[in-house]
Amino acid sequence: MKGETDYLNMQKNFYEAPIPPEVIVGNYAWHEEYPYETFLLFKNGDIRKPIFDTFKDKVALDFGCGSGRMVKRMNLLFKQVDGCDISSRLLKEAERYCNGSGGYSSKFYLTGGNDLGDAPKNFYDFIYCTISMHHIASYTIRKKILASMFEALKVGGKITLQMAYNPRAPFTSELPESVLVNGMQIRFFFPQRGADYFSDDFDANSTNGIYDVLIGKKDLASIKKDLSEQFSNVAIWFSNVSNYLNDLNGKTHQQMWATDWIYLHGEKSSS
Ligand SMILES: C[S@@+](CC[C@H](N)C(=O)[O-])C[C@H]1O[C@@H](n2cnc3c(N)ncnc32)[C@H](O)[C@@H]1O
Repeated sequence: MKGETDYLNMQKNFYEAPIPPEVIVGNYAWHEEYPYETFLLFKNGDIRKPIFDTFKDKVALDFGCGSGRMVKRMNLLFKQVDGCDISSRLLKEAERYCNGSGGYSSKFYLTGGNDLGDAPKNFYDFIYCTISMHHIASYTIRKKILASMFEALKVGGKITLQMAYNPRAPFTSELPESVLVNGMQIRFFFPQRGADYFSDDFDANSTNGIYDVLIGKKDLASIKKDLSEQFSNVAIWFSNVSNYLNDLNGKTHQQMWATDWIYLHGEKSSS
């Protein structure tokens, strides 16, 4: 039976392998088209409810920043955006993409997979992530990362973490994948194997969409409870992705198990 270190080594080997960053992100053009800023920075994605009055004087950290796709986008809005990731190879790409021709001076930190590496403590106004946290199929590791995020935030700092969600996850064989209606096969979801919210699937032999944590409606109360152990003003909201699956302004996403993105939000009100 494998443990946390084995799992983190597996993840590290996966992300250090010479796979192009666009392939690691997957459906790259679709993700670039998706309005992540709206949902990371506005409660319920509602532009009347920004999480800060201004963004231009704030410093942010992108957890699992990979090749810097969202660091570069968020740099347009924030004073400074740093990134951290388990992969030194992807961080080099991020450095090139954001600081090279991009003209920014983001700092990038290599992590051990269950922390934020040497990212400074009591420093950030905002920590966010996109398509990274749900690739970690271990409750214990995600909890450690949450604790590190709390440490890295200033008092008054906030998090918004995007993860994948389907109200019916995790899927069991009793649930029909699709039904036949008037001769037409109507598909409900794309079934996927993965970890339950509370499990530590250290035996998993892959990551990054091949074996993720599958968050469902039954987990919402636990998620809120977990966040509330450290953060205040905890809130959860969603953005629908099922309508966009095939076409988002001409950019396509392959079929996937999630129907929505879920955003986990909280504030550090004391150290
Ligand atoms: C699909 S890519 C997304 C990259 C970027 N966030 C984006 O939106 O383009 C997933 C990223 O999560 C990172 N990642 C996965 N597990 C991690 C862990 N345990 N700790 C830190 N980073 C991790 C990977 O190295 C990879 O860069």
